[in-house]
Amino acid sequence: MGITVLVVGSGGREHVICWRILRDRPDAKIYCAPGNGGIGTIATRVPIDATAIEDLVQWAKTQRPDLVIVGPEEPSALGLVDQLLSEDIKTFGPSAAAAQLEASKAWTSSLLEREGIPIPKTAIFDDAANAHGYIDSRDNLVVVKADGLALGKGVLVCSNVEEAHSAVDLLLVKRKFGDAGSPIVIQDRCFGPELSVFALCAGTDFRLLGSARDYKRAYDGNKGPNTGGMGAYTPVTDARPQLIQEIADRVIGPTLEATARAGAPFTGILYAGIMLTPNGPVVIEFNVRLGDPEAQVILTTSSGDFVSAIESAIDGNLEKVDVAPNGSAAVCVVLASNGYPNDYVKGHEIIGLDDLPNGALAFHAGTETISGSVYTAGGRVLSVVGHSDNIDSAKRLAYQAARQITFKGVHMRTDIATSELSTLTDTNGERLK
Ligand code: GLY
Repeated sequence: MGITVLVVGSGGREHVICWRILRDRPDAKIYCAPGNGGIGTIATRVPIDATAIEDLVQWAKTQRPDLVIVGPEEPSALGLVDQLLSEDIKTFGPSAAAAQLEASKAWTSSLLEREGIPIPKTAIFDDAANAHGYIDSRDNLVVVKADGLALGKGVLVCSNVEEAHSAVDLLLVKRKFGDAGSPIVIQDRCFGPELSVFALCAGTDFRLLGSARDYKRAYDGNKGPNTGGMGAYTPVTDARPQLIQEIADRVIGPTLEATARAGAPFTGILYAGIMLTPNGPVVIEFNVRLGDPEAQVILTTSSGDFVSAIESAIDGNLEKVDVAPNGSAAVCVVLASNGYPNDYVKGHEIIGLDDLPNGALAFHAGTETISGSVYTAGGRVLSVVGHSDNIDSAKRLAYQAARQITFKGVHMRTDIATSELSTLTDTNGERLK
């Protein structure tokens, strides 16, 4: 009998994780908590929310899966991995202490600054008057960040001093995100294309899984509000081997050394959100998981056994890891509900999911299946991925497949993987879920 795996989460990232497990281990039995309409076609859904830690632990104690893979950051930050490991259940993801790399921007920026890892100029405040004074003393535009997880709304990219003062008040005076909003981290705003770099980590050792570029703004031309991601592609032309090596040597390696020294060794996937500035790569954020929709292009363009790689990381020995980019190209286009990331209507039937062109795959996010039909159930509904040996034909395939799928109010960007846009990304890690 094959391996039994519980995947925690419900987005496109978790769908592609399930897909990848089955690609590498066709006899695997997958459970997904809570999953979505598409995941339900390849895994058994478990009706437990990804943040219901006690319920997930109880389920795992009873069902004893061979492996648990935690998709999103929140369960890790809430201690799911620690609790499952203490029950002797093999679990992949960071401890709550290591998840601070995403869950506490103050902890992380202090750590990076101490270690000389390149980040924008940073100051931390829990007092609004001091923060206002600091803003008035700076010549630069700034980004104001809530310390904790704030549903992806805690990074405020300010275009002038007034916006910066309002951001301080929003977080420290109006306490928009409660305790998650304090302290705040104020960083100088920097500009340049962004790059998401992914590393499989076991303490201080790591293997690069690949890099991708995602598109956070809702509309073409990188306009409109930030979203969880409207598309992604890999490989990225400006991610030359020398640059990736520099990011590994100056960012990922030293960060893992520093977290281990801080008593929070990191096991899991580290996602370095890098801005390629004229002065070199700068860390604008860390995430403690695969990106979404980056996972949909990274996991479909790599060779090797993903499950073995994960087990190796849990066992603390990456020597036999064989997962690496296979040289092919993938472009992902997200189909969203009209209005996302603000208000939108759910419950529209999705048509055209069958008979996608060869080389195209549709991963589900906000979907539900009712009596064999699939309906929209969230803001980001589907990620449609085209694969080929080059970006241009992967893009053509992705859009051909994306246009074949329809639902009322469907919205997609039409410029994913358009190269001239790469210089326009300046979101400084701001995003919505
Ligand atoms: N694509 C951005 C994220 O996963 O957070």
